[in-house]
Amino acid sequence: MQDSTTQARQKLLYLMGLEGKQPEIPVSIRNLEQKAREILSPEAYDYVAGGAGAEDTIRANREAFHRVRIVPRMLRDLTLRNLGIELFGTKLPAPVLLAPIGIQSILHPDAELASARAAAAVGLPFILSTAASRSIEAVAETMQDAPRWFQLYWPDDPDVAASFVSRAEKAGYQAIVVTLDIGILGWRERDLQRAYFPFIRGEGLINYFSDPAFRKSLSQPPEIDPGAAISHALKIFANPSLTWENLGYLRQHTRLPILLKGILHPEDAICALEYHVDGLIVSNHGGRQVDGAIAALDALPGIVSAVQGQIPILFDSGIRSGADALKALALGATAILLGRPYAWGLAVGGEWGVTEVLRNFIADLDATLALSGCGSCIELASATLQRVFN
Ligand SMILES: Cc1cc2nc3c(=O)[nH]c(=O)nc-3n(C[C@H](O)[C@H](O)[C@H](O)COP(=O)(O)O)c2cc1C
Repeated sequence: MQDSTTQARQKLLYLMGLEGKQPEIPVSIRNLEQKAREILSPEAYDYVAGGAGAEDTIRANREAFHRVRIVPRMLRDLTLRNLGIELFGTKLPAPVLLAPIGIQSILHPDAELASARAAAAVGLPFILSTAASRSIEAVAETMQDAPRWFQLYWPDDPDVAASFVSRAEKAGYQAIVVTLDIGILGWRERDLQRAYFPFIRGEGLINYFSDPAFRKSLSQPPEIDPGAAISHALKIFANPSLTWENLGYLRQHTRLPILLKGILHPEDAICALEYHVDGLIVSNHGGRQVDGAIAALDALPGIVSAVQGQIPILFDSGIRSGADALKALALGATAILLGRPYAWGLAVGGEWGVTEVLRNFIADLDATLALSGCGSCIELASATLQRVFN
């Protein structure tokens, strides 16, 4: 029998028992989060776990997955399985990318370098946030030729926006993800109550401080007057004035594929097609921006039907297991972004923690795909699913 991803992983973990060992990185994401919580400061834990308002959107994201159930099919030779996909000309071993998560220095001293190396080890693209604690160039250097994308928080300074994108292109990033759902920061009760906002301490701003266009707009370099640099970075961080017309400016400054992250309405998906973007990411930012927003999974079918296969549709917000990924793929996503689960892996075990989370996640997806009666992600269709109303 072929030693497939899931079987190899199961064997590796079960064999630990013969040596009296157990996996140190918890296999269950719930237990992993619990372990991360014991390690992290309460402020850092809440920053990652929390969301906007009463966190109704975080709950809705999970409930949407519970309402969709898999209906497994039988007797369909599944010895040969293939999780691989091709995205913008790059072959990926599984339809999974690492979501952009800012300021990873609050989780582990190796921060984004650890997550990026783990992604490279497994062959999955790492999406580096603008608000990272390691620079565009440092992450590129540690990843060598491994696939990576850059997520743009479009700053309220066109020269800095253009500079970020051209630095990413020069450093070998293969796509630009423009996050649209943070024109202003969401109302995050946990962080407000703890009076915790890492950026005002200068964390997560390295890409600004190292940027030539940003530095040009300061009267003193950040090394001399860090306070002024922080306050200027925060002033231009978000850009509520953006409209669809601005996308043309971005297009002039990069040849890379442009994806829009945060799309939840089919009419916005149609606008994106009219403005010739290359891909969409259906996401509500993991419930961190609009409390009471539609669950990302509930938004997915409408967007898939509006786009009619013209561009890839990626998905995040609420994915915790292989079954969740399978449901999003069956509803028409081309690939999914894993978010908080890898952040917990980083907190618990650095690069190794993230690698373990990714390997377990892919093995779980492979098992769920096979046991559902599908040999590849392409075979998945909404017929694999049933909607449960309660
Ligand atoms: C701590 C944290 C930081 C994040 N930082 C960013 C970011 O810098 N840029 C971005 O586009 N999305 C950011 N996100 C959103 C993620 O990319 C993704 O949309 C979200 O984590 C998906 O929800 P899930 O983790 O619950 O599955 C962040 C999410 C978390 C939890």
